[in-house]
Amino acid sequence: MRSIWKVFLPLLLFFNDFAYAQGDPQAGKAHFIVCANCHGDAGQGNATTGAPRLTHLREDYIVAQLTKFKARIRGGDGAGPHAMQMSAIATTLPDEQAMWDVAAYIGSLEEHLPDATIEGNVQLGADYYNQYCGACHGARAQGNPAIKGSPPPLIGANDWYLVRQLKELRRGGRGAHIEDKSGRQMAVMAEVLPSDQAIYDVVAYIHSLGSN
Ligand code: HEC
Ligand code: HEC
Repeated sequence: MRSIWKVFLPLLLFFNDFAYAQGDPQAGKAHFIVCANCHGDAGQGNATTGAPRLTHLREDYIVAQLTKFKARIRGGDGAGPHAMQMSAIATTLPDEQAMWDVAAYIGSLEEHLPDATIEGNVQLGADYYNQYCGACHGARAQGNPAIKGSPPPLIGANDWYLVRQLKELRRGGRGAHIEDKSGRQMAVMAEVLPSDQAIYDVVAYIHSLGSN
């Protein structure tokens, strides 16, 4: 058995790398001109437009979300105004290649860490996080592509954006569409947080973890 893995493991790793390497950042730069209007020149997020930081996200997660926005699986009927706005923009990306290209460009941008804007009880938030969230998002909220649904990193995100997502997931504005398997998985988890205060607490804890 072992010798079989010696052959297959490098192959698997090779194809994995291959999947991550398909975007062309130079081509993506042209697409990002539109994105920068809301997300900021360095993809650092902008509380005024409500468009979140993007540079902490994996390229495969960015492409998956752009695909959902374009198909209105996220940002369609019942979604909040922010997601609807993003859904309209995603339809201007011509094809999947454009999504990989823009994701590769985002991956090449310099990192700017977000400031704290939310107050919460970090200690209580740690309890919630370790009990309900860490198994999927990782002990330090760094994300875990090996788990089904590919939970994204939460460290490095704007705290106001995390609060909005948790409220939207709980309300059914995100993760309710029948084709949104990973979103539905997360929507169930958002319901375990008993109150808005619990959301502020867990987000304050995530912010306290820093960037990596
Ligand atoms: C008109 C403003 C606007 C423009 C232009 C825009 N976005 Fe967005 N984007 C948003 C908002 C607002 C959200 C948050 C949606 C929500 O709250 O669900 C968002 C969310 C996202 C997300 C989801 C992030 C996550 O953590 O799930 C991605 C990825 C994204 N945008 C990529 C892009 C890309 C790439 C472009 C350019 C092609 C772009 N956006 C252009 C406003 C915009
Ligand atoms: C069963 C695994 C699982 C658990 C447990 C879980 N999540 Fe998630 N989470 C996911 C997945 C998968 C996604 C991506 C959803 C998508 O693809 O739209 C996600 C997405 C999110 C997002 C949106 C991030 C973004 O960039 O838009 C937030 C915020 C979040 N989770 C917070 C939490 C918190 C807080 C907890 C604990 C209360 C938690 N999650 C527990 C799997 C999980």
